[in-house]
Formats: sequence, structure tokens, C-alpha cells
Amino acid sequence: MAVEWSGLGPDVLVVLDRDAATPLRTQLEDQIRQAIRSGRLSHGERMPSTRVLAQALGLSRGLVQDCYAQLLAEGYLVARGGSATRVARPAAQRTEPGRRPPAVPSSPLIADFQSSVPDLGSVPREDWAWAVREACRTAPNHAFNYGDPQGDPRLRDVLAAYLRRVRAADAVAGQLVICSGMAQALWLVLRALAGQGLRRVAFEDPGSAVTVTTAAAWAGLDTVPVPVDELGVDVAALQATGAGAVVLTPAHQWPTGVVLAPERRLALLDWAAAHGGTIIEDDYDAEFRYDRDPVGTIQGLAPDRVVALGTVSKSLAPALRLGWIVSPPALVSELARAKHGTDRGSPGLDQLALATLIEAGRYDRHLRRMRTEYAARRDVLIGALADHAPRVRLTGLAAGFHAVAHLPGGASEAAVIRAARERSVGLYGMSTYRTDHAPGPTQLVLGFGNLSQRAIQAGIAAIGDLLDPCA
Ligand SMILES: Cc1ncc(COP(=O)(O)O)c(C=O)c1O
Repeated sequence: MAVEWSGLGPDVLVVLDRDAATPLRTQLEDQIRQAIRSGRLSHGERMPSTRVLAQALGLSRGLVQDCYAQLLAEGYLVARGGSATRVARPAAQRTEPGRRPPAVPSSPLIADFQSSVPDLGSVPREDWAWAVREACRTAPNHAFNYGDPQGDPRLRDVLAAYLRRVRAADAVAGQLVICSGMAQALWLVLRALAGQGLRRVAFEDPGSAVTVTTAAAWAGLDTVPVPVDELGVDVAALQATGAGAVVLTPAHQWPTGVVLAPERRLALLDWAAAHGGTIIEDDYDAEFRYDRDPVGTIQGLAPDRVVALGTVSKSLAPALRLGWIVSPPALVSELARAKHGTDRGSPGLDQLALATLIEAGRYDRHLRRMRTEYAARRDVLIGALADHAPRVRLTGLAAGFHAVAHLPGGASEAAVIRAARERSVGLYGMSTYRTDHAPGPTQLVLGFGNLSQRAIQAGIAAIGDLLDPCA
């Protein structure tokens, strides 16, 4: 897609040799022709005005006008009715082998039950734009320098208070490290633990095997899966693995949706105390809890043994790439050092904007609104399945915006997914998230965060007979 410049238009890199025998106008023409042929200037892109280019290159405006006129005549540039001069599609580019046409968007699905995606249409754009503007307007000059690699002190203060208030975390600013979402948080933590002697890390099965094994490989660690049942992670099985750390999603297990049972929470804490183990708590979906009182973080119960990871990827948008680590004091300086070595710290202005958003109460307000909306979507999903596939059992509904559908009979997961796709409905099977990819019981992970109520209804209506052939 062409860059659509607003305002004065783009700069173009042109280097003129004033000592060369070739006239300056010829040099300018040649370089613009070459830039268009090579794709450095692409079709539709707006050219600088003759005045701006003349000024930038120290040439007379008339010379640049002559050059543009020549390139217009040759078909390299186009100008219509007083509008800006743009790059035309050169013949060479049209036929250039290997250059792929822009991807044609595939036909839209009636409903794509993809999980882990929040409602992208409800991102609080106005609030975020306001917060960025406020941050930009009020930040002192030094805020535009490299910041504290551990994270902006104001955001850490605000977040620590938020996590104490909403998640019963045992958090103070000095324990927080701001980073680029949970993905980076996990890598930083595993790397720091590896530096302190950790060799093996366990993860939930089914779970985020790819995320954990990738981060663990970067940190030089072995990984081992631990089964999850209807009470959450199997702590006895964890004990048998010999792992020194475990990555968990206790608030709403990804992807089974199980909330870690109280007895398992206690058993986990016993495991950590007895084995010197570290619990890495991915506080996934904690913001969206519907039918029971929210449960606080495990970190709040054992701040020396638990590292809590948080992110705005579900609460605001994945694109913001903002997350945090609530670390035991013993790991903080190593985490900050690694963060500094990796990227010199997360973007300062975005950190200030998030602090501003939370302090102004707009973050909480957005979460309240989305909690109501996701709960309504969840109810629509329950209702649609009851109408169109009544023998399908749904679990994992206490929180978040995905649920697990247990299909009756011996339906093949892959066959149902394939048939649904032919009816323009996107479905995803649980077997993808099992480490052995074994078929197991036929279960679908139904994400409804980024689907309107109408799309959920229409999607389930379109595939009800696939999910429950006897309906
Ligand atoms: C289990 C789990 N935790 C956390 C996240 C968020 O990751 P990030 O903060 O890097 O976007 C995801 C992303 O989908 C996830 O699947």
C-alpha cells in the first residue's frame, strides 16, 4: 500500500554530485527514475512539492519543475487536476517477476471463534489518545530520555496500587518491572531464574506449550508438561517432574478455562516451599470474572516464591505491547539488567499514558464496560448452543472470553473444524494445545472476545448440526 503523506509530503533521498560532469537536472531525473524502478518509491506515493524538494537540495524551483515535467511525460509520475504529484505504476514494476500482488483478503467468516483476542472494536481509542496526549503534554523533558529500565517509576507506583487493590497482590513499585507483554516477561523471568541455577521449568498441558518452550529455549532451560484436570494443574504430577519452576494460568487456565481450586493453590504453595520452587503466575483473564467473586493472585500469598506476570493485551489491546512482572526482591535487579540489555526499557511515553489512564479511572471504567459486554456475549453463546446443539456441554465459563465446548458422541475434532470452515465458521480444537496433539475427547476452544453477539448467534446457528448431529 502506498504511504499516504499528510501535510508537507515526504523527503526523498537524492544525493547530487555538484562536481560531476552530468548536469544536476539529469542527475535528479535519473535518481528519481531509479528510485521508482527499484520500488524505493512505490506506486501511488506522493512526491515532495517542487518547492520543498528544491529547497532541500539547494536547487532552483524551475529546475525541479522541469525534472517533474519530464518524468510526468515519461509516465513515471502522475498529477491530476491540481492535486499532488504521485508515483505512477511503472511498466517495469508491473511485470517484475517475483513481486507479489497485495494479498487479496480471503472471504470473511460468519464467525471466527478464535481465542485470546479481545474485542478489537472496543479498544478505548479516545481514552488512549487522551492519555497519550496528556502524558506528552505534562511529561518533564527528562521523560523523553532513556528511562529506568525497570520501568517508569510513576507507572510502577500506579500499577502496584492497582494490583494491590484489584488483585490482592503483594506489590510495591520496587518489585515491578515493566516490559513488552507477557511474552517478554516470561523470557526475562526464565533467563533470570536460569542465572540462579534453574534447569527445568514445567508448564500446563494443555497450555501455552509454544510460548513456554520458546522462552525456555532462549533461556537454556528444559521444559516438562504437567497435566491439567478439572481442578487445575496436577500438583502431584508437578512434584514428580523435578522441575524448579512452573508456569501457570490459575485465574482462568488457558485453554481449559478451569479456575485453580483452593486445595490446589495450597498444594502448589506447599510444593514451592518444600522444593524451593518458583511459581510463575500468568494472571491471564483475571480482569474478566463473572459468576463468582474474583480470586486474588497466588503472588499475594507467597511473594517470595511467586513471580506474577500481567499484560494489557486482553484488557486494552495486544498491539500496545505493555506488561509487567511483580518479582520477588531477589530477582528484580537481574530482571532490570536483562531488560536494559534487551531494549533499554519499554517506551516511556506509553508507560506514562498507561499510568494516566489508570489514575484517571478510565482503565477501570473500560474494564467494567467490557466485563458487562463479554458476559452478554457469553450468555448469547450459551443460548445459541442450547438452541442449536443442546447436547454440547460448555465449561470454563467463570472468566475470560473463551469457553470449552465438549462435543457429544465420537465426533472427529478435525472433521468438525473442516466442515465448519466450509460453512465460513472458524473453529479451533483443544488437541492443538495438548503437547502430544493426541485426539483426546472432542473439545473446541471457543473464543468470543472479538465476536459480536449477532456473529456468535449466526455462527453457532450455521454449524449446530455439526456440533450435535442429533439436534
Ligand atoms: C496464556 C497467555 N497469557 C498471556 C498472553 C498475553 O501475551 P502478551 O502479553 O505477550 O500479549 C497470551 C496471549 O495470547 C496467552 O495465551
